[in-house]
Amino acid sequence: MKKDALKLTAIVAMTSERVIGKDNDLPWRLPEDLKMFKRTTSGHPIVMGRKTWDSLGKYKPLPNRQNIVITRDEGWSDEGATVIHSPDELHQLDLQSQEVYIIGGAQIYGLFLPHFDELIISHVYQDHEGDTYFPEFEDTFDEYEVLETYEEFEVRKYYR
Ligand SMILES: NC(=O)c1ccc[n+]([C@@H]2O[C@H](COP(=O)([O-])OP(=O)(O)OC[C@H]3O[C@@H](n4cnc5c(N)ncnc54)[C@H](OP(=O)(O)O)[C@@H]3O)[C@@H](O)[C@H]2O)c1
Repeated sequence: MKKDALKLTAIVAMTSERVIGKDNDLPWRLPEDLKMFKRTTSGHPIVMGRKTWDSLGKYKPLPNRQNIVITRDEGWSDEGATVIHSPDELHQLDLQSQEVYIIGGAQIYGLFLPHFDELIISHVYQDHEGDTYFPEFEDTFDEYEVLETYEEFEVRKYYR
């Protein structure tokens, strides 16, 4: 994928066991994390897998953000979604801003992992059962700063 001038940031909440999802939903309710997610991503394009799009239910498309959905299905469309079929196609879009947030899920984090400039990770303290996991990133992102701390989680920004 050509990098152009885009800055690609993953934003995710995960447990120490890397769990991010269960039954195509979030395994927890963390309103403060959702607020942080909204503050951070508002005004920027967000890229998500088709399953994460589906998981948003009545909340989609997320407001004030260009909602970009990646699918292999050439015939797929949905109201409020800009559709792409590969990471490369991102560079052909007229984007709302050059700061792009990749918002999941697991397949899409994995797909974009080599291209991320930064990761914003909410480390959820409590363990939760799940069926979807964030990929290993520690080899390439070995520096971080703590952005915010809450009772149930800590937000870190990781750099290469
Ligand atoms: N904790 C968090 O921060 C967080 C964030 C986001 C999501 N989640 C959770 O993650 C789970 C969903 O993650 P998931 O991994 O199952 O699904 P996903 O990554 O959201 O979406 C997977 C879909 O993306 C499309 N796709 C995958 N690879 C592709 C490629 N190479 N080219 C084009 N399209 C491709 C396919 O769509 P088609 O089948 O249509 O072809 C695939 O079915 C849910 O539980 C959700 O709640 C958690």
